[in-house]
Amino acid sequence: MYDIALIPGDGVGPEVVSEGKKVIMTACQEYGIRINWHEYPFGGETYLQKNILLPDSALSEIKEMDGIYFGAVGDPRVKPGILEREILLKLRFSLDQYINLRPVKLLPGVEGPLRNKTYKDIDFYFIRENTEDFYIATGATFKGRNHQLNHILKRNLFQANIEINFQLEKEEEFGYQLGLLSRKGSDRVIRYAFSLADTKGLARVSTVDKANVLSEMYGLWREVFKEIASEYPAISADCYYVDAMAMLMVSNPEKFKVIVSPNMFGDILTDLGAILQGGIGMAASANINPEGVSMFEPIHGSAPDLKNKGISNPVGTILAGAMMLDFLGEKEASSAIEAAVSSVLKEGKVRTKDLGGNNSTKEMGNSIAHILQNMNRN
Ligand code: IPM
Ligand code: MG
Repeated sequence: MYDIALIPGDGVGPEVVSEGKKVIMTACQEYGIRINWHEYPFGGETYLQKNILLPDSALSEIKEMDGIYFGAVGDPRVKPGILEREILLKLRFSLDQYINLRPVKLLPGVEGPLRNKTYKDIDFYFIRENTEDFYIATGATFKGRNHQLNHILKRNLFQANIEINFQLEKEEEFGYQLGLLSRKGSDRVIRYAFSLADTKGLARVSTVDKANVLSEMYGLWREVFKEIASEYPAISADCYYVDAMAMLMVSNPEKFKVIVSPNMFGDILTDLGAILQGGIGMAASANINPEGVSMFEPIHGSAPDLKNKGISNPVGTILAGAMMLDFLGEKEASSAIEAAVSSVLKEGKVRTKDLGGNNSTKEMGNSIAHILQNMNRN
């Protein structure tokens, strides 16, 4: 029996999560797995009605669970950043989910934007560091001649008391943001990338940085990458600047097997990864703490304009469900969901609007669940 926190969130979140849950429950029935779902209403509505974001009491309950299945947060009625920071990023940071694993895999039957590349060419893992870099949210906007910031940055690996002092000749208006990478924080995620490549028999790990300009922070990252690479002589390791990587992911996606990246470049490049696999609705994501509670979500946001239309693509959320079962150790059920998704896409009869069809979110979820049921019986 697994205890799973369910956070559908905002916008299309509840619609896609409901299809994901349906497919997971079908797999559970077929493979004799039991899940106890604990649903939490966090998101824009709860914030506006009750001024509640993610209370510590809920966080301590969730800390005891086996996983989190998450939709999306973000609401046009709420100032951008509040829900993202205080719910999604708070979960990632306080549960120390330092690895963000985002498979980039074009499934058969899905036409990517690169029509001459097929599903054989687009199949790699993108691993994004998930707690540091510019995401430490340390900074301010100010106007004046003097400014001081005192900020306590708490992470699982360290606590830093950060003091920043500006003294200006004349009054100015500034916004600034501090980026930070720790050696330990870089080490643990890069190590994960190499060990994933090793386990899956993938002979190449690539990294992304901007060490030619932001040489301190990303210089450290690159140094740690090279150190760990030397422990894996059988795996070839190469470094790219982020701008070049953006180009290569489009021109030569077949080059890549595992890419490991600092947080912000990873955020940007995984949207690019999503479009390579047919669209943002196709892409799944796992926020992993190998020793703690991990969280599984589609990489798309809440898409408020699509809310309640029932037309969004639930495949990313369903594949995130497969990743969750895989991490729980339910390999068979997880592979079965992936196979059911592939089979529906390959057949091509049921397609949501983004895939060029007319089917609803529900129809897509139902047909995947249906195939899953018949698969196990044969
Ligand atoms: C993602 C999203 C989030 C991020 C936002 C919603 C905070 O873009 O999961 O990629 O920037 O990490
Ligand atoms: Mg993103």
